[in-house]
Amino acid sequence: MTDIAALQSEILADIQGAGDEPALEAVRLAALGKKGSVSALLATLGTLSPEDRKTAGPLFNGLKDAVAQAIGARKAQLADAALDARLAAETVDVSLPSAPLNSGTVHPISQVLEEITAIFADLGFAVAEGPDVEFDDYNFTKLNIPPDHPARQMQDTFYVAPQPGDQGAAHVLRTHTSPVQVRAMLAAGKPPIRVISPGRTYRVDSDATHSPMFHQVEALVVDEGIHLGHLKWTVEEFCKAFFEIDRIELRARPSFFPFTEPSLEWDMRCDRSVRGQIKFGTGNDWLELGGSGMVHRKVLENCGFDSTRYTGFAFGFGLDRMAMLKYGIPDIRSFFESDLRWLKHYGFAALDIPTLDGGLSR
Ligand code: DAH
Repeated sequence: MTDIAALQSEILADIQGAGDEPALEAVRLAALGKKGSVSALLATLGTLSPEDRKTAGPLFNGLKDAVAQAIGARKAQLADAALDARLAAETVDVSLPSAPLNSGTVHPISQVLEEITAIFADLGFAVAEGPDVEFDDYNFTKLNIPPDHPARQMQDTFYVAPQPGDQGAAHVLRTHTSPVQVRAMLAAGKPPIRVISPGRTYRVDSDATHSPMFHQVEALVVDEGIHLGHLKWTVEEFCKAFFEIDRIELRARPSFFPFTEPSLEWDMRCDRSVRGQIKFGTGNDWLELGGSGMVHRKVLENCGFDSTRYTGFAFGFGLDRMAMLKYGIPDIRSFFESDLRWLKHYGFAALDIPTLDGGLSR
């Protein structure tokens, strides 16, 4: 007859030795499964004499119960251990700093626009605004560019299809910020006027230094006794502040704009002898800043100003070009491509910040 006690201690040892659930299940099957050792023993009960069955029955069933109970206990033990292991592995250290997030920053054009606005605010200029979709009348006619004037072809214009509320007035995407001069004068009604107007402008043009949408900053000063000296001083002060240098040298070239007389274009002395670099203030090269002049008598009159009493100066500089110069950016189109790698390269987007595990935040 089978040694029940030996069998039981053998199975119980196997149960204790099972290191995980599958191993325990294998032990269970080997004992209590259909072909298991304990099941086989129980199956013999039917073959015993009633006498033997009386003693063997409780013995065998006791063995079965003991094995089942031990398996249950071991199962609970294994589950506890698994949970402990998981908790240990998944510990959250709440004292660690959180992973840094990539924060957005101001676009270079907006940044330059803010810088320029701040510089002119220091000089006592207010900001005047006008719409991107402008009256043909303000963009051209009131600026002394009549309908058939050849100067209209200087600027390849995007014309806006007539809209229901136009009442016959033609509209264009403004080709320059100069129409804001007209708006500022009409709104003020009388001098003094001291405004700048930075904003978007549009021309049918696209290459490395021209974008069909670009930015200009316009300045307008109208008062009694305004002369070229005021214009020169303002351009100089602005350039010193914008390019962050104390000593600059400006050159004025005669030019033509229908809305100014005389008209000048300003260049700034610079050094481009080192490839890919521009130094301001010294050198043998000149860098174009933009157009300017004394506001044309007809423009003042078109806006209802007495041109025998008042004079004014104005200038319009390319904002994107100034940003390109200040930050050494060769292609104007990159401003409008929203390429994060480019923005990071020029320091305009948040840089990758090292994380604690030595990686980089994205
Ligand atoms: N509007 C001119 C342009 O887009 C630039 C300009 C020239 C603006 C002379 C002015 C000015 O205010 O006085 O090319």
